[in-house]
Parts: sequence; structure tokens; C-alpha cells
Amino acid sequence: MNNIAVIAGDGIGREVIPAAIDVIERAAPGGASLKFREFPWGCEFYRQNGRMMDRDGLDRLKESDAIFLGAIGDPAVPDHISVWELILPIRQRFDQYVNFRPMRLMPGVPCPLVGRAASDVDMICVRENSEGEYAGLGGRLHIGTPHEVAEQTGLFTRRAIERIARFGFDVASKRPRRRLASATKSNALQHSMVLWDDAVASVAKEYPSVEWRKYHVDALAARMVTDPGSIDVIIASNLFGDILTDLGAAVSGSLGVAPSANLNPERKYPSMFEPIHGSAPDIAGRGIANPIGAIWAGALMLDHLGFRDGHDRIVAAIERVLGNAGPRTPDLGGKATTKEVASAVAAAL
Ligand code: NAI
Ligand code: MG
Repeated sequence: MNNIAVIAGDGIGREVIPAAIDVIERAAPGGASLKFREFPWGCEFYRQNGRMMDRDGLDRLKESDAIFLGAIGDPAVPDHISVWELILPIRQRFDQYVNFRPMRLMPGVPCPLVGRAASDVDMICVRENSEGEYAGLGGRLHIGTPHEVAEQTGLFTRRAIERIARFGFDVASKRPRRRLASATKSNALQHSMVLWDDAVASVAKEYPSVEWRKYHVDALAARMVTDPGSIDVIIASNLFGDILTDLGAAVSGSLGVAPSANLNPERKYPSMFEPIHGSAPDIAGRGIANPIGAIWAGALMLDHLGFRDGHDRIVAAIERVLGNAGPRTPDLGGKATTKEVASAVAAAL
């Protein structure tokens, strides 16, 4: 029995998650009993209860084998509250230190970069997810006065950099191109990013088969646009990875197709799977959100739970629907609804 905690959350999270669950249930092999349990947490819960999740929320999530998350965020609730009282506590408490984000242009999806085809955009970002710029250290002082100050401290440890680098090199060593790009900024960030470079270089010695180099993150961002085909696996700090993966999703045709896995590779705690997009208040409630990012995230979840075949079948079904001019939502230039796209993927299974 695989217990899956579902937090559909807010906005389009509540539309794409049910659609994705239908597909996942159909793709899971006969013997894979998946039990989905819903938790009504998010900004609506916050407005009623003054908190983003139940007091014992993390303890209850800990009992599950995986967490399936939609999106959290509502214009009526400050984003730093929704992020810091739900998403980041889950990532930190469950030591989900890998944020694994494939960035692929699917066949049939128009690329915003002129002249690029599916074979030119196939990248994976392995983002550090437990510390760095999002460590949450710092504070504000003299709030509301002219001499108000804020300090936000990045925290980098050799242990965390080495473990994310090792995961990234492992992923790269199993891909055909065996290439790795390390995102740095050690020219300006002379403490944290010099440690990053040193730690990555020491791990690289364990992987002689992987061709790697470092790029300053700004140059890497430019390269993802001008020559995406030269990029295979990227390792990046929390903030850099956050930014590069939205860029990668845009280059892959839409934020709506990009999936993400927050992994605790040691499996001591549950891992969490989510589309990378947010709650999209601008289109929420209209039933037109693209469900593919959530469906693909569900495929990553099946893979993590040991059902590699279910993962492969879902990804192939997505490719078939998009590649054969199947229904698509407005973000990809179509007129279809969330449900129509999910049904087409389910049928393609
Ligand atoms: P967003 O990802 O929600 O939306 C950005 C743009 O992409 C919007 O125009 C939206 O309509 C479009 N879009 C996103 N997903 C789509 C989909 N599946 N289908 C079609 N179009 C899609 O980012 P935004 O607007 O910056 O943030 C909205 C809220 O979501 C904020 O409260 C933010 O904090 C939260 N957020 C939550 C995340 C999470 O739960 N992991 C991640 C990112 C943002
Ligand atoms: Mg982001």
C-alpha cells in the first residue's frame, strides 16, 4: 500500500491535481495500490484558521509514502506566509534536499526560441533545496521607520553542496550526453560561491566519465536561450535553480508543462511532487489550466515509488498527445480544458 498525501492547495492547484490523479491511477500497474488522502491546507484554510496547515500537519504528512502538491498562493495572503508556513517547512523538515526539475521541449509544442525543436531542449536542473539563499536566516529591524533594515543571510555548507553535486553527477552519468553545468557566481559572491565551486570540484573527481564545467549563473541563463542544446544537467543553489527552472520551463513552451520532485533520496522521509507553477490567480476557476506539469509530476512520483513503467507510460502518453496535435490548453495555443487534456492523456495510456 502506498499512502499519498494530497495537498491540492489554492487556485489552479485544485484543478490540475484531481485531473492528474485520474491519470496516475490509470497508469499505475494493477498491483500498485495507491491510496490518496486529501488535506485541505493552503490559503483558504489560513483565512479560516489563521494557519496554513494543522498544528500537527508535518507529523501527519510524515506517515505518508509521498506528498502530491498542487500550488499554494492567494492574492489575499502575503506570499512569504504561504511559502514559509507550508512549502518550505515540508522541504526542510523532510530533508528534501534535491529539487529535481526536467526541462524538456515536448514534440509538437511550439518553442519560443526561433528554429529550435524538441531535440534542442532536453535539460534537467538539480537544485539544492535545503539551505542556501532560502535558509530563512535574518530579520528586520526598525520596521516602518526611515532607518528600517533587513538582513537575509545565505547559508552554505560543504556537506549540502557535496550531496547535491553527487546527486547531479549521478544523474548526468546515466544520461547519454554525460554533461554537467554547475551554476556559480563566485566572481561576486566571494565566500559562498567559492565554497560551492570547491565542493563541486572535489565531487567531480568521483565522476571521470562526466564532462563538466562551471558557468556564472547570468551567463548560463543566456546560454539556455542562445544554445540550449549545449546544456544537459545543471546543478544550482536554491535561488539560482529557482530562477533557471522558470526560464527552462518557458523555453520548453510553457510553465504549465514543467514538473518537479522534492526528493529525500535516502527515503527517510516522504518526498514531495508538484508542478513547478504557482496557483495562477489570473486563470484560476476557469478550468483551462494546463494539467501536464501536474501529470508529469505524478509520473515522477510513480518512479520514486518504484513504478518506473508507470512513469514511462505517462511520459509517452503526454508525448503522444502533444506530438499528434491532440487537445491543448490556451497556454499552448489551444482551446481545450484541463479535463479534456487529462482525458486525452489517460486515453493515450
Ligand atoms: P504562476 O506560476 O502561478 O503563474 C505565472 C503565469 O503562468 C500566469 O500567467 C499563469 O496563468 C501561467 N500559468 C502557470 N501555470 C499554468 C498552467 N498550469 N496552465 C496555464 N498557465 C499557467 O506564478 P505567479 O503568478 O508568480 O504566482 C501566483 C501565486 O502562486 C503566488 O501566490 C505565488 O507565491 C504562488 N506560487 C506558488 C508556487 C508553489 O506552490 N510551489 C510556485 C510559484 C508560485
Ligand atoms: Mg519558482
